[in-house]
Amino acid sequence: MLDPNKIKSRFPIFSDSENTDLVFLDNASTTQKPDVVVEKLNDFYSRYNANVHRGIYRIGELATMEYESVRKKIAGFINAKSEKNIVFTKGTTESINLVAYSWARKNLSPGDEILVTEMEHHSNLVPWQLAAQQTGATLRYIPITEAGELDLSDLEKYLNSKTKLVAIVHQSNILGTINPVKKIIDLAHNVGAKVLIDGAQYITHASLNVDELDCDFYAFSGHKMMGPTGVGVLYAKQVLLEEMDPFLSGGDMILSVSMEKSTWNDIPYKFEAGTPNIAQVIGLGAAIQFIEDTGIDKIDEFITSLTKTAITKLQSVRGLRIYGHGPSSDSTSVISFNLADIHPHDVAQFLDMDNIAVRAGHHCTQPVMLKYNISSTVRASLYIYNTPQDIERLVGSLQKTINFMS
Ligand code: ALA
Repeated sequence: MLDPNKIKSRFPIFSDSENTDLVFLDNASTTQKPDVVVEKLNDFYSRYNANVHRGIYRIGELATMEYESVRKKIAGFINAKSEKNIVFTKGTTESINLVAYSWARKNLSPGDEILVTEMEHHSNLVPWQLAAQQTGATLRYIPITEAGELDLSDLEKYLNSKTKLVAIVHQSNILGTINPVKKIIDLAHNVGAKVLIDGAQYITHASLNVDELDCDFYAFSGHKMMGPTGVGVLYAKQVLLEEMDPFLSGGDMILSVSMEKSTWNDIPYKFEAGTPNIAQVIGLGAAIQFIEDTGIDKIDEFITSLTKTAITKLQSVRGLRIYGHGPSSDSTSVISFNLADIHPHDVAQFLDMDNIAVRAGHHCTQPVMLKYNISSTVRASLYIYNTPQDIERLVGSLQKTINFMS
């Protein structure tokens, strides 16, 4: 079993004199960065800062080599067939928007249907609302149950010959629920629909095999898996990337430009206009190496076990209600709750006074709020540097809060 205290010592932020007492439980928002990622960024800027794919000089070539080696590393990490399947974006949101602009607007017509779920983050919802408005397609929603799971009882009713795209979250950023995406992908393919998976939360702690899943698109962010902010990935099948038009246009994504017209670079470069986030991509490579060295299965096992402990302890707090995480649910790492009728922002502020960082709000999932008839929750989300003592501190602080408020 992974030792969180040993892991924690690798994260410089926890050694900062103002943070030695910090309990960071907002990992679904963003994760802290290990020493190797901070050092890799520093190394790039101090030793070989140069643009990529351009300079015929030593540091330009070194920067290009480091940048492209991360593309290869990511292809291996998610078991993509080739690095050509890996497009660098600035995050999950941009990855999904890329598909909504370059694939959906080209392929959807009035009468077509896009199937999403009530569990989606707004970033896997609003781009489809806009695409539907502009193409005349219709948006349909798979509902969620009171237990915080997708209600798949009528899935065959939602999937039909009109369904052209299914866009679904792999793991909910508010409930922690892990969805049976393989089953949905197979059924969607039976009716000829493409499938996009929002993997922003899932990929941070669990192993992923896009080839086996057979998803058409998979989107994720670097900063939620210990990488820098400003970098994300869109995985897509090669045939789709070949057919799609560019999303953003400008330098590096072209093959030739005349006054009349332009032609496009090969994939994936066709989708990477302008100077990319070079340092961030290189930093993400170091984060993935850190995950591989630690062991993704060990990470998953540790987080799942800590989540179970946290849920049991939280359930002992008077007036605390957890959303989702029913006994039969496949869920982990993210725990949303409310504490009696105390506003979640007040709860978060009380926790902050004890130096415990959680998120409070609707977590960009307002349809989930509607389902539970609430406006917001408190969310504690766990990662590999969280310790059992962190959970004790959270529970103790919540107990103090409920005692004080009542
Ligand atoms: N998507 C991030 C979250 O759920 C910001 O907190």
